Amino acid sequence: MLIDLLTDSGTGAMSSRQWAAMMDGDESYAGSRSFYRFQTVVRDITGLVEVIPTHQGRAAERILFATLVQPGQVVPNNTHFDTTRANIEYCGAEALDLVIPEGREPASRHPFKGNIDLGALERAIGQVGVKRIPFVMVTVTNNSGGGQPVSLENLKAVRALCDRHRLPLILDACRFAENAYFIKLREPGYADWPVARIAREMFGQADGCTMSAKKDGLSNIGGFLALNDPDVAARCRNLLVLTEGFPTYGGLAGYDLEAVATGLEEVLDEEYLRYRVRSTAYLAERAEAAGVPVVQPPGGHAVYLDARALLPHIPPSQYPAQSLCVELYRAGGVRGVEIGSVMFGNAARHELLRLAIPRRVYTQSHIDYVVEAILEVHALRDRIRGMRIVEEPPFLRHFSARFETIEKRNEK
Ligand code: F0G
Repeated sequence: MLIDLLTDSGTGAMSSRQWAAMMDGDESYAGSRSFYRFQTVVRDITGLVEVIPTHQGRAAERILFATLVQPGQVVPNNTHFDTTRANIEYCGAEALDLVIPEGREPASRHPFKGNIDLGALERAIGQVGVKRIPFVMVTVTNNSGGGQPVSLENLKAVRALCDRHRLPLILDACRFAENAYFIKLREPGYADWPVARIAREMFGQADGCTMSAKKDGLSNIGGFLALNDPDVAARCRNLLVLTEGFPTYGGLAGYDLEAVATGLEEVLDEEYLRYRVRSTAYLAERAEAAGVPVVQPPGGHAVYLDARALLPHIPPSQYPAQSLCVELYRAGGVRGVEIGSVMFGNAARHELLRLAIPRRVYTQSHIDYVVEAILEVHALRDRIRGMRIVEEPPFLRHFSARFETIEKRNEK
């Protein structure tokens, strides 16, 4: 493999400042100096008071949901990531996706395709009843669709709706800095705001957040749960001690806490964010200019190729996006990931190939090379054939069966 675009999670390159900070890590079991630095940075960026480190994002999700979610409840979100959905279902509750209709349309160029559908949220609260909703979630950026941003206008409206019904609002903040930068670029009124101030305004709408530092923490591992409610935080810390570690390290080494603290400071650098968002858009623009169907507009961390449009002769039962994935690997040694019928079974809404861009790893010439490989595959598209599954690990079979069940339930 030459270029790995499987995920942007934990695959970034750390800076010399992060490595230097790691050398300064304090490995005390309790009361580590590195924890207090970490806590200060998270408080400064989010304004949230209670800071609980975890080894990655899903650990923060599991701890928060085990504390607040009861069987039979419903958790709305713009779109749940796999692990938030799975952790909610593990609690016996239902994960509800309520992104705006444009967010489900690959060709729509809405600037904030991650926005939550406010009418649908209001209706869901009315139907389900406030008592059966522990909190509302919003994922920034919305991973599904390649990191589509949520506007501050939408976040503030969700906050107002939550206030009316006395519901807490939790951000899934994995890519908060990319979301804040999109607000600066696209939302009227914020062009002159520093990204850090926009991020603070985003977190200011929420009562808490779950975070994977493997994304906008610019680190290879790490995460946190941050909250304002001290009682909920105390209950979460009790669970943390059970499975992750003492509240001042939460399953991380002291040096990891240092790497994340420095990463969180660096991710708000606007020069970095400009390069990040531009290089993702550049890949999408070059592919599109050559006639390759791409999900629009490109998001922050990934470009999605639309395999259904590119390979119309391959039916979903023969996995067009998986075929595209394999051909791109054959042509250029470029690894992406199928998001379609292989991943979701019959519940698949699209046939997409996700090319996720690791942070601070690839240069423009790497991206130019990826474009060449895509164009080579595109030129041969009529000759690409479908695939069939000849062998399937049991855990994958479990996943597609689970998604099919969820889809049937959502349709009811
Ligand atoms: N929430 C979102 C929106 C995510 O994208 C991810 C991870 C998580 C939560 C979980 O965080 O991996 O640290 O436990 N997304 C990765 C991806 C795996 O490839 O999109 P984690």
